[in-house]
Amino acid sequence: MLNAYIHQNRQRFLDELFELLRIPSVSADTKFDADVKKTAEYIKKSLVDVGIDKVEVITTKGHPIVYGEKIVDVALPTILVYGHYDVQPADPLELWVTKPFEPIIKKTDIHPEGAIFARGACDDKGQVFMHIKAVEAMLKTSGLPCNVKFMIEGEEEVGSENLEAFIKSNKGKLAADVILISDTGMLSNETPSVTVGLRGLSYFEVEVIGPNRDLHSGLYGGAVANPINMLCTMIASLHDENRRITIPGFYDQVIELSADERDEMAKAPYSEEKYCKALNIQTTVGEKGYTTMERATIRPTLDVNGMWGGYTGVGAKTIIPASGYAKISMRLVPAQDPNKITKLFQKHFESIAPAGVTVNVKPHHAGEPAMTPTDSLEFLAASLAVEESFGKKPIPIRSGGSIPIVAMFEKVLGLKSVLLGFGLDSDAIHSPNEHYGVYNYFKGIETIPLFYKHYAQLKK
Ligand code: BES
Ligand code: MN
Ligand code: MN
Repeated sequence: MLNAYIHQNRQRFLDELFELLRIPSVSADTKFDADVKKTAEYIKKSLVDVGIDKVEVITTKGHPIVYGEKIVDVALPTILVYGHYDVQPADPLELWVTKPFEPIIKKTDIHPEGAIFARGACDDKGQVFMHIKAVEAMLKTSGLPCNVKFMIEGEEEVGSENLEAFIKSNKGKLAADVILISDTGMLSNETPSVTVGLRGLSYFEVEVIGPNRDLHSGLYGGAVANPINMLCTMIASLHDENRRITIPGFYDQVIELSADERDEMAKAPYSEEKYCKALNIQTTVGEKGYTTMERATIRPTLDVNGMWGGYTGVGAKTIIPASGYAKISMRLVPAQDPNKITKLFQKHFESIAPAGVTVNVKPHHAGEPAMTPTDSLEFLAASLAVEESFGKKPIPIRSGGSIPIVAMFEKVLGLKSVLLGFGLDSDAIHSPNEHYGVYNYFKGIETIPLFYKHYAQLKK
């Protein structure tokens, strides 16, 4: 009955998502502020239309939060659905085959049924919309087996700063039994999985300041420290020959997996050849002693996200630049504390400053890693839902990505999060040509009600 309803409304479910995808809700760029607001209003309307009560757009110091709830019976457990309607900037625009905010369905090798190409299609508008449509389908057919609350924010891609304040001052309103999030991925459509771990994050901007102006490199070159050369030397020294991070104390809190846990992880299907081919690289590179999957999920990392300074215009200009800059981030794993890592990085980076330049380290956002235990009732309900929907038991996987607010939910609200995501790594989130499988969208809409069903049964 439920699946029949979803099937009958297939086209409308796509059309409504397309309308959402057409609004460019880029949270990082103030140029899009009006569109971000419009998107919040669209989410509000969508919730009202499916019959959610008390729907409101809550203004914050930054972008608004959309809240709504449907309490069908106070005796039933309550699911708090979290997601984000903001998206990453679409740049570089010239690399999009079709326009980022003009959604279109195109077939791909991985998505023979077609995929929706648009910024936010997978991360996270498409996945948020699955929840709204799943609730619609339940309300129109069998009814809701759990109460539901929605909290959809507009600042996830910029660090969820104002959401933190919101949850701290709205503990009563947000009271629930579990948080349900679709903002992650699965191994493949043939190998369903449920995410049980997320990495944390610590992000910095560093600057290396040299002479009071760009200098003629013929007159001064060789005698004055070049800030960009110095920055490169400093960054290069942050890894050793085994690609381990050299910051003293960096690995102190890292929980090493047991041999059994690593064996279990290695059972997930993986092909190094396919991995390299999809990225057009010859080989993978990473910390010695760990597999590619381990390096990308259970190990901490340090990466330069961008670097600038000096002359980058056309042709050649011969200078010693006055300064050099880089954005550096670290992915953290249990039980690394981002605050401790922030201090360690700052202290270390300042300590390796070479003579002749001044080094400034400015911390950006940070977030803690998170885990959902596989022996928890929350995971079990997710596992049963996926098994019933896909006909296969899902593999529990640790993801390399970060959703910092998940750890905050546990700290502030005392709630575990279920990471029931339906994206694929190849969906190009944050990249040009982001897309989301039409199959994945509808599979999500079908699987979510099964989570409600199994969770309600397990909580009895
Ligand atoms: N949805 C992603 C995180 C994600 C994607 C986790 C796939 C696991 C699998 C989220 O929107 C995101 O991009 N998070 C940022 C961190 C945030 C603080 C900007 C990230 O991971 O870089
Ligand atoms: Mn996301
Ligand atoms: Mn994202």
